[in-house]
Amino acid sequence: MEKRPFPTHVGIIMDGNGRWAKAHNVPRVMGHNAGMQSMKKIVIASSNLGVKYLTVYAFSTENWKRSTEEVNGIFNLIVKYVNSELEELDENNVHINIFGEYDMLPKASVDAIDKMVGRLHDNDGLVFNIALNYGGRDEILRSVKELARECAEEGRDPSELTEDDISAHLYSGSARFDVPDPDLIIRTSGEERMSNFLTWQAAYSELMFTDTLWPDFTPEEYREMLEAYADRDRRFGGRKEAK
Ligand code: FPP
Repeated sequence: MEKRPFPTHVGIIMDGNGRWAKAHNVPRVMGHNAGMQSMKKIVIASSNLGVKYLTVYAFSTENWKRSTEEVNGIFNLIVKYVNSELEELDENNVHINIFGEYDMLPKASVDAIDKMVGRLHDNDGLVFNIALNYGGRDEILRSVKELARECAEEGRDPSELTEDDISAHLYSGSARFDVPDPDLIIRTSGEERMSNFLTWQAAYSELMFTDTLWPDFTPEEYREMLEAYADRDRRFGGRKEAK
């Protein structure tokens, strides 16, 4: 049987940083730091393996419920990531989109993100989407509100709205490079839930789970998952190919 190609778009729920920290008897923030090292490797691996779009769940709208220390620790990591990785991301021709209302983050993080997004804007290699202060239902609601506004103010007929209209107003539809729906979504650490990640876009995604905690996830295991994906037969509810 002819092998299907690797996925074009991979989504990752990077779970298990807290348990990794507990297992190593270190503060949770150190688990997130280890998680960031893992993320760095997977970004470069994606680029090398020919994945065109990578979307990671870095901070959900629900993550604000965590301790101030942990939340601030994650935000500080973003600044650290930008400072240490910007050159290499640029050398690898990576383009970055942020999915989520990141302007609610502390100013230092917002400034670092704006600097990174601006510097990488013209790159056309891997499209790396970071879901930050992101929730899938919230993203759909934003899209619907925008369409409602267009109907009220621009005279669009609500009865003629299509699924494509909703898609076009999601973060993924309004990015510089129109981001296709994810082919594959991976969640680490043994949890098997979607947790409000790419809720609209994941309708036909293949799902894969691993017990590996995110900081222990390696490019080798990633590659094995992409190979396993290539062996799966996607039918899209009867249709053999995606549109
Ligand atoms: C899930 O582990 C992980 C997070 C909520 C945060 C992930 C953040 C990073 C990997 C760093 C992001 C960095 C940048 C630059 C965007 P968990 O804390 O839920 O783990 P647990 O389920 O074991 O407690």
